[in-house]
Amino acid sequence: MNTKNSNLIKEVDRRRTFAIISHPDAGKTTLTEKLLLFGGAIRLAGSVKSRRAQNHAVSDWMEIEKQRGISVTSSVLQFEYNNCCINILDTPGHQDFSEDTFRTLMAADSAVMVIDCAKGIEAQTKKLFHVCKMRGIPIFTFINKMDRMGKDPFELIEELEQVLDIKSYPMNWPIGNGRDFKGVYDREKNLINLFGEGNHGQSKTRTEKLNIEDSSLSSLLGDELHSQLKEDIELLDVAGDSFDLDEVLKGNLTPVFFGSALTNFGVEPFLESFLELTTPPTPRDSNLGMVDPKKENFTGFIFKIQANMNPTHRDRIAFLRICSGEFKKGMSVNHVQENKKIRLSQPQQFLSQERVVVETAYPGDIIGIHDPGIFKIGDSLCEDNSKIQYHGIPLFAPEHFCKVFTKNALKRKQFIKGINQLSEEGTIQVYKQPNIGVEELIIGVVGALQFEVLEYRLKNEYGVDIIMESLPYQYIRWINGEGFSPDSLNLTMDSLLVEDQDLNPVVLFINEWSISRVAERNESISLKEISLRNK
Ligand code: G4P
Repeated sequence: MNTKNSNLIKEVDRRRTFAIISHPDAGKTTLTEKLLLFGGAIRLAGSVKSRRAQNHAVSDWMEIEKQRGISVTSSVLQFEYNNCCINILDTPGHQDFSEDTFRTLMAADSAVMVIDCAKGIEAQTKKLFHVCKMRGIPIFTFINKMDRMGKDPFELIEELEQVLDIKSYPMNWPIGNGRDFKGVYDREKNLINLFGEGNHGQSKTRTEKLNIEDSSLSSLLGDELHSQLKEDIELLDVAGDSFDLDEVLKGNLTPVFFGSALTNFGVEPFLESFLELTTPPTPRDSNLGMVDPKKENFTGFIFKIQANMNPTHRDRIAFLRICSGEFKKGMSVNHVQENKKIRLSQPQQFLSQERVVVETAYPGDIIGIHDPGIFKIGDSLCEDNSKIQYHGIPLFAPEHFCKVFTKNALKRKQFIKGINQLSEEGTIQVYKQPNIGVEELIIGVVGALQFEVLEYRLKNEYGVDIIMESLPYQYIRWINGEGFSPDSLNLTMDSLLVEDQDLNPVVLFINEWSISRVAERNESISLKEISLRNK
């Protein structure tokens, strides 16, 4: 093995790239802040997102995010901890931007699912979970806000199985609830971590560790809680799922941790255990088979494009996930889909708003590359001429549709340019009725707030005012079928045949009933909920 290769192997093995998923308000931002704190990336955890003080997170790049006080785009955060190089793919919390989160999950090697102990599994968590499940990546569960009154822990564990259909293994177990929350029992180490109020989670806190058999425990917890704990643990050992790392890595079993991000309780043990159990970058599927991250040839794919993130930069950045080999600043790579050589001269890494130029990067890392308008989501880049193409990023089914026109016919050119760019970024999906010109475009979005982003960005970046006419469709299906012909398609009165941006035939539906009617009437075709870009 040469030195270059041994360095690559070492760097791959210490990478951990994951996304944190949750329903808004479950505590994703707070947990991210605490993880960064352990990595020494920030001194006071509150400095990443001091909501009340500044009303927006540092990662809120766009003006609209500041106005609405929500996070529209995903950012990437890198930090070091215990000799691991950690990449957290931060994702927008608001459900209207879930498509961006879905795509970001394509770049993650594992996911951390944050659940509010009082609310259990909520709608957005469920959606995001299914995308992780589809990819078969390991999923770790952090049940948060244990300092507050919540559901019974057994009920929460049952919800994982009933609602998400995933087996679970509690790594620790809570003692008491709400005001009486005393701490957690670590099942592996057979130790109790006692909960103390600490200093409101602004910096690292200390926890006392005691053995479950420790004589002082009954007086600390009270007889009732102590015997309840012993009963619970016995029940878990006998009736619960057993721990199996293979099943964790396949995404069939989720290790569960109870804690409180705000008070910084249970966060560091969670991080340590997570880093040990989760996987470094693993081989990825491509048109040429599985690609080993430790292969020397550099390869990667683009999973996100973001224009005008910062008004002082006013540029377009393509986010590239490195899949194999070593990345070096200034290297020439092959843009597979365009069959062109390009030089990656100003690669950047992100710590929220701060951008730093990277000299080298490794599989698992995300780098931002300047995009003069040549990249599309799902494009692959590789160092040699092997023409490796990673499997496309799914187009997730929009649920809201409207017709969009420009108010001023003289601005048509800018209008089309803006629409095309926003579609390449994946902010919107564009459809066209066959035989009708681009004057009448149909726009589909996963969350209705994306329409506001469209209107705002067309006005602010392209100087175009638009009129939006909302359409009643709520479902979309891509048509698959040998020899499909639009003329032979037998639709219901309320459904509409259109073409997507890659000219694939798709049908828009008002309700699920119409979908099943159309499926019955057209047996030779199949209707798909997800389509792949750059197949
Ligand atoms: P999100 O990114 O998932 O949307 O959630 P975020 O971290 O912003 O947390 C949502 C709210 O829940 C915040 O309160 C936060 O302080 C609180 N929170 C997070 N973790 C815990 C926890 O472990 N225990 C308790 N009790 N609360 C927690 P907020 O009132 O919306 O904001 P703020 O006033 O705290 O800034």
